[in-house]
Amino acid sequence: MTTGLSERFGLSYPIMLAPMGGVSGGALAAAVSNAGGLGMVGGGYGDLQWMKRELELAVAGTQRPWGVGLITWKATREAVDLALSYEPKAFFFSFGDVSPYVDAVKARGCALICQVQDLGGAREAKAIGADFIVAQGAEAGGHGAVRSTLPFVPAVVDAVDPVPVLAAGGVGDGRGLAAALALGACGAVIGTRYCATHEALMHPLAAQRLVEADGDHTQRTRVFDIARGYDWPPAYTGRALRNRFVERWHGREQALAADTAAFEQYRQAQQRADFEQALVWGGEVVDLITGIEPAAALTERIGRDAAERLRQLGAA
Ligand SMILES: Cc1cc2nc3c(=O)[nH]c(=O)nc-3n(C[C@H](O)[C@H](O)[C@H](O)COP(=O)(O)O)c2cc1C
Repeated sequence: MTTGLSERFGLSYPIMLAPMGGVSGGALAAAVSNAGGLGMVGGGYGDLQWMKRELELAVAGTQRPWGVGLITWKATREAVDLALSYEPKAFFFSFGDVSPYVDAVKARGCALICQVQDLGGAREAKAIGADFIVAQGAEAGGHGAVRSTLPFVPAVVDAVDPVPVLAAGGVGDGRGLAAALALGACGAVIGTRYCATHEALMHPLAAQRLVEADGDHTQRTRVFDIARGYDWPPAYTGRALRNRFVERWHGREQALAADTAAFEQYRQAQQRADFEQALVWGGEVVDLITGIEPAAALTERIGRDAAERLRQLGAA
């Protein structure tokens, strides 16, 4: 399975770990890279202390290429420069205007990866010189927008040709990776499925919820951003597991925004790891999560199963 992604980074499998803020730490990124995928550290909102700790773990954990990601509308020059000082081979931006950071990333010879949610965003990413464009469907866990992976990926492939495209949103096993390649992508960005690994920085009770949940019980919503005080641009919602907090507030966002007591209750629920109230991000692909396992075993299985499936289809 040689693709533009595997060639650029010398990968065994065209799999990129999603840079999940606070979840994709250095140990998870290193494990994915060591297994032949591309591990990414999830710098999220750009907490410098967290980034230093986890970037050091990535550097110490692997000799293979790895990368880092930031939520673009919250990114700062300081966070970008800090990340670049650890010499990542790829920098993943999503959710906002990347142009202030293009020169700094390219000057280091680091691949610029832009995740997009619509065709306009894909064309902009090409115009600013993205080396890879990630087409993210609404099936994805965490923040995203409204397009669906199946039609969106080939549309982005056509719109940004010859820039290589990765698929994100709903890939959790070899079938999904094979489908992404069949759509013209050079690889898949996988997030939710990696939350249920030993190396992910997830509370064990939250990881267990991902194992037990099915995709019928996820929801794109703003209620957790409101409760946590994050002022996300209106284009983006986040897909999370449905719980009592979602049942109570989804559709009543204005009332939630005015209810400061509810914010405090939410904070306390998060502290005591009460996931009937607190957030667990998860995509529709939770259907396919049956257990918590080492990231290396997961990476190898997805890669091998995809190759086998593509061989079978080739023989059909
Ligand atoms: C727990 C979690 C946290 C995420 N955090 C980020 C983030 O900080 N930055 C980002 O660009 N994408 C983030 N994402 C979205 C991923 O980049 C990716 O698009 C998504 O996980 C792919 O879909 P999947 O979850 O179905 O694999 C997150 C996703 C999850 C599940």
